Amino acid sequence: MRASNIEPAWNGVSKFLHWLVALLIFTQLALGWLAATWRLSPTKLELFVWHKSVGMVVLGLVVLRLAWRLASRAPPLPAGMPGWERVAARTSHVLLYVAMLGMPITGWVVSSASGVPFRVFRRIALPSIAPVDKHIADLASLVHLWLGLLLAALLLVHIGAALRHHFIQRDEVLIRMLPARRLPK
Ligand code: HEM
Ligand code: HEM
Repeated sequence: MRASNIEPAWNGVSKFLHWLVALLIFTQLALGWLAATWRLSPTKLELFVWHKSVGMVVLGLVVLRLAWRLASRAPPLPAGMPGWERVAARTSHVLLYVAMLGMPITGWVVSSASGVPFRVFRRIALPSIAPVDKHIADLASLVHLWLGLLLAALLLVHIGAALRHHFIQRDEVLIRMLPARRLPK
């Protein structure tokens, strides 16, 4: 049986995962930038412990979120939305998922290929997913950087679109993703 979504709002699990992952992604963009630019010191290492550990939590949550998304129904886009806007919404959401998965995976490859053992939250040993190789580490690092920039750009468009729906088009698209709001059927 398919899990049901109270249309036209998003179900509680989808909302919870959307906002939790959103919070962690903003934290990760800031932590990643801080860790990469901090001068070599114990603080820099500490920032990396947090960045890599929270990043692995994000990976787990996004896999869970995708599984839930595929098992439940998403509310339909507002009737009368032009075709180009539907395509833009779908494409940008798919790209957001690609970036949300691609960021932790490329980070994990950088960590593995650089050959420095890592423990998530200083406890669980992170298994290696790439051979120790400087070229692989450099390439994955470049992809991590550019995918991060793409993610930041997508987020500007995503947040801009949500605000446009709410303040200019005055439809329910933002409201139906807000935590405490339940829309009637
Ligand atoms: C202030 C920040 C944010 C706002 C205001 C916001 C708003 C929204 C809204 C209103 C929707 C529902 C669209 C619909 O009903 O069709 C949505 C969906 C979505 N959001 Fe966000 N969002 C934010 C941050 C983020 C972040 C940080 C990410 C991840 C990087 C993200 C990823 C997504 C994805 C992938 C969907 C599509 C859900 C699906 O179809 O499974 N959002 N967002
Ligand atoms: C949602 C997840 C993640 C986001 C949004 C993110 C974002 C970023 C950003 C913005 C930077 C600074 C720009 C750069 O130098 O590339 C960075 C650097 C870095 N991140 Fe992440 N990251 C995530 C997950 C991870 C994970 C899971 C790991 C490792 C297990 C990781 C390892 C690194 C490393 C080693 C750097 C230093 C620069 C490099 O060698 O590429 N990241 N990250």
